[in-house]
Amino acid sequence: MRVYNFAAGPAALPEEVLKRAAAELVEYGSDGMSVMEMSHRSKMYLAIYEKVDASIRRVMNIPDNYKVLYLQGGATLQFSAIPMNLMKPDKNSADYALSGNFSKKAYKEAKKYGDARVAGSTEDCGFARIPQQNELTLNPDAAYFHYCMNNTVYGSKWNYVPETGDVPLVCDMSSCILSEPIDVSKFGVIYAGAQKNMGPSGLTVVIVRKDLLTGSMPFTPTVMDWKTLAEKDSMYNTPSCYGIYFLGLVLDWIESIGGLEAMKKRNEEKAKLLYDALDKSSFYKTFVEPSARSMMNVTFNTGDNDLDAKFVKEAAARGIVNIKGYRDLGGMRASIYNAVTLEAVKALVDFMSDFEKENA
Ligand SMILES: Cc1ncc(COP(=O)(O)O)c(C=O)c1O
Repeated sequence: MRVYNFAAGPAALPEEVLKRAAAELVEYGSDGMSVMEMSHRSKMYLAIYEKVDASIRRVMNIPDNYKVLYLQGGATLQFSAIPMNLMKPDKNSADYALSGNFSKKAYKEAKKYGDARVAGSTEDCGFARIPQQNELTLNPDAAYFHYCMNNTVYGSKWNYVPETGDVPLVCDMSSCILSEPIDVSKFGVIYAGAQKNMGPSGLTVVIVRKDLLTGSMPFTPTVMDWKTLAEKDSMYNTPSCYGIYFLGLVLDWIESIGGLEAMKKRNEEKAKLLYDALDKSSFYKTFVEPSARSMMNVTFNTGDNDLDAKFVKEAAARGIVNIKGYRDLGGMRASIYNAVTLEAVKALVDFMSDFEKENA
């Protein structure tokens, strides 16, 4: 029996998609082999790749002046690739907003390659909120401005797109990509690891505006040089062939339910159910300021570490798993990505109510 999986990533995948992948696993169409067995340069695989590229462009409404790269190394490798590709000898300063652990990691990495500056931070309040536009100290000559839209660990989200003038916006969307429509044209670079809303781990998607593909620092490994990767359609070396194929299945599923507008409605309904339950209760406490709440990762606690541990244990006995908060924050975290059903969230809310009655 499948459990209710609230993992932060790798995370739940849509059951329909898993079943389709299983049905196509041994023989894909009439090709007589598994997608995993195909050469990435074969006609049959290139047909899959082109279909996936067209799908993501359609689903996310990606303008023609953007290239989509399908890479390996996770979002973490992009923490280095971003400065290597966007900082220039005469323009090596970049602005970073710190709103959680991953944006901090990206900033630390960028400092190795140039003058990365903190342009705004909410670390002083433990990342319980998001820096506001008027708190950002922007350098108009920065090579780019980097932020992480959804903070997976803390359960917070930038509910506005920062205004940075001519400075390109670079955004880590690992834990919110494909959860709702976004205006791609506002961004210079969008990147995300696949393992939350796009498929299994092993694939990283980078959406980059073509005028930013001007070449990288001389010491950049070729496999991290976006210009080369773009010229080679992400096949400078062997890509995550199965990951790209699986992303295609996920995109088909998103289109089958009505695209990103419909996905947003589903996600809003799930998040509202959970936040309403938390707000109604005096037993559970939330961590993030309400205006900065994430629709994907919901963090809460009872205020008592032992009770939190009991909650996690008893939830698991009811088939509600992976709900323990990240070690930096403790408590609980329910990741309610696209594939987590309303039924799963209802099961969690019912359990929360029972647990409160027994332990309040
Ligand atoms: C927002 C965010 N950025 C970056 C990462 C790191 O991604 P990866 O493990 O793909 O390198 C994660 C992983 O959970 C994440 O949630």
